[in-house]
Amino acid sequence: MVKAFQIASGPRVRFGRGEAAQVGEEAKGLGMTKPMLVTDPGLTSSGALDSVIKGLEDSVVEYVFYDQAEANPSDTSILAARDFFGENGCDGFIAAGGGSTMDTAKTTLAIVANGGVPSDYYGRGKATKPGPPLITVPTTAGTGSEVTMSSIVTDTKLMIKTVLADDSLFAKLAVVDSALLAKLPSHIAAGAMMDALTHAIESVGSPASNPWTEALAFESIARIGAHGRAYVDDPSDPEAADAISLAAMLAGRAFTNTGLGIVHSLAHPLGAYHGLHHGTANGIFLPPVMEFNLPAMRDAYARMAPLLKEGAAHTAEAAIDAIRELNTDIGIPGSLREADVVNEDLDVLAKDAAESHQVNTNPVPSTQEDLKRLLLAVLE
Ligand SMILES: [Fe+2]
Repeated sequence: MVKAFQIASGPRVRFGRGEAAQVGEEAKGLGMTKPMLVTDPGLTSSGALDSVIKGLEDSVVEYVFYDQAEANPSDTSILAARDFFGENGCDGFIAAGGGSTMDTAKTTLAIVANGGVPSDYYGRGKATKPGPPLITVPTTAGTGSEVTMSSIVTDTKLMIKTVLADDSLFAKLAVVDSALLAKLPSHIAAGAMMDALTHAIESVGSPASNPWTEALAFESIARIGAHGRAYVDDPSDPEAADAISLAAMLAGRAFTNTGLGIVHSLAHPLGAYHGLHHGTANGIFLPPVMEFNLPAMRDAYARMAPLLKEGAAHTAEAAIDAIRELNTDIGIPGSLREADVVNEDLDVLAKDAAESHQVNTNPVPSTQEDLKRLLLAVLE
């Protein structure tokens, strides 16, 4: 018998190479007359957004350009984005960028619709009023933010990375065009992809995992196993880039329904305090956390092993080995050495991790001491 479950399916998706050129027509169709085009500094100069901008201009959609989305967006950056939206009379969002850019648009949307400041809506189900329409256009393959109902924000007073989540944060449309990934530097492609793989694996481990999310997560894992190395080697390879874009989106749809686990609990404070790339941090923590979770996950990990590495034994250990091998091959470090973390930082990092809501959806209960041990295991 299947245990009862619920699914929130999220935005309509346009997937395919060249689809970004349709963003202008889609914005018009959604009733936007003056969208705020949210992106980050540097992305436009790379030419990654040329097709999106051309599409907007061809469709004669007047848009306002905002390239101040931060990496690990802070609550103060969200207030600046909200003011910009209001001052320019915008009526919709087009978020073209990585996870931080899409999350900037989602958190801004939440406070435009509900009033107040980001901290009023931390947690699930608080920012409930529908906001202006949002189109997400990912330029990395990893975060899945294009199809999730959650948004990460860094609180500058509490010094934590935390989450806002509600159905109202779903985009109206996600345009997933893997041609936008062509110029990604390898280390960003690698980190973002490990974020997607972590989303898939942590979704399977959640107590809320169900046949629907599991199908998405396993398909995501299989595509990363088959195409991950080729993609990081050359993100302009259409077959590999399509596969990893799809993997990121499938994992996003899975975890937005199930929640994540303690890889994310451990990775978020490293982003807030040490600026470590989110996906890279996940890649570092994933193997030791899988070892920690073995008592509950042996069968599921064994099923993942041959998907991660062709010909691997159907054992949980083989899956963990395959991930360590993948990390090495794509340049993910095996420790936090490069992140300037010292022994004295560990208590604060472990405390923040223990207070994160993802500990509740990890397959094995963890104490602050357990989390400190996991940090210590990757310190050097
Ligand atoms: Fe993530």
